[in-house]
Amino acid sequence: MAQFSLLISLLSFTIPQFFISGVISSGTFTLLNKCDKTVWPGILSNAGISQLSTTGFALRSGESKTINAPSNWGGRIFARTYCSQNESTGLFSCVTGDCGSGKLECDGNNAAPPATLAEFTLDGSGGLDFYDVSLVDGYNLPMLVVPQGGTGGNCTTTGCVVDLNGECPSELSVTDSEGDGVVACKSACEAFGDSKYCCSGPNATPDTCSPSSYSEIFKKACPHAYSYAYDDKTSTFTCAGADYLITFCPSPSTSQKSSSDSQTPVKPSSPDIDSTMVYEGAELDSSGASSLSYVFRSHSIAGAVATASAIWLLMTHHF
Ligand SMILES: *[C@@H]1O[C@H](CO)[C@@H](O)[C@H](O)[C@H]1NC(C)=O
Ligand SMILES: *[C@@H]1O[C@H](CO)[C@@H](O)[C@H](O)[C@H]1NC(C)=O
Repeated sequence: MAQFSLLISLLSFTIPQFFISGVISSGTFTLLNKCDKTVWPGILSNAGISQLSTTGFALRSGESKTINAPSNWGGRIFARTYCSQNESTGLFSCVTGDCGSGKLECDGNNAAPPATLAEFTLDGSGGLDFYDVSLVDGYNLPMLVVPQGGTGGNCTTTGCVVDLNGECPSELSVTDSEGDGVVACKSACEAFGDSKYCCSGPNATPDTCSPSSYSEIFKKACPHAYSYAYDDKTSTFTCAGADYLITFCPSPSTSQKSSSDSQTPVKPSSPDIDSTMVYEGAELDSSGASSLSYVFRSHSIAGAVATASAIWLLMTHHF
């Protein structure tokens, strides 16, 4: 009888928690502008995934904005620079990263290269979020992605903190007509259209497409960012249950030489004991039970599962 009332009290504790937290977890993206000028972030969902509540807005120097994303979201986040509205046509456009919508919202349009991209696939294989910062479509400004509160083997900061515009070879440089100097740096693929740079046609596999002297400039400056299409091994990061802070111009303009030090990945804040347990649970199940590890994303559900195991022990072991 004592066991029974203990069971009831455990259940009454667990079940509401189960329903309140819900099976659908979601993540947030906080975009922070540490550039000394306004930037205009753009957000594009992957094919088949709904656009988020905003797809483009202005973010003044020092401002931040937090956006919620459903747990299965995938897409890219970038920042447009040197944007203005044409006085005669009323159309909004940007010198870099323009998404061609003619207005603040990108509305499902991609950034015109060159643009630094932060790419996300939330709740992918094994219930993990996959993310990277990519220079495959070139570079327009430094960007850092810092996972917050997540767990996992390589749940670490990634990005490109270097001012690559200052280091860009002239054949890849983009300048604007306003005298702002180099405002973006093209990929070799965009600049020359050669399949060996684009990893296309006869060079469309990892074995037939190698880093080039151009991609190596990007890789040397930003070792954790994608520098060409098959750069996955050193450029893909994974987290379980994280929120993400995306900072534009994370540090004051740095030259390539001094910044290789600051590129060292920074461990995100150490996970609490609860989330460590959640991670281990998810790891054990990653062999096949991905739906189970998905459920493990919600900490309180993992708590509920732990409680349920305790109940099961109570019920099967007659004291
Ligand atoms: C505004 O748009 C018109 C028409 O496309 C173009 O000719 C003009 O150069 C634009 N003005 C500016 C300041 O970009
Ligand atoms: C991070 O982990 C993923 C999945 O295990 C792996 O594919 C990737 O190479 C790792 N990334 C780095 C930078 O070590």
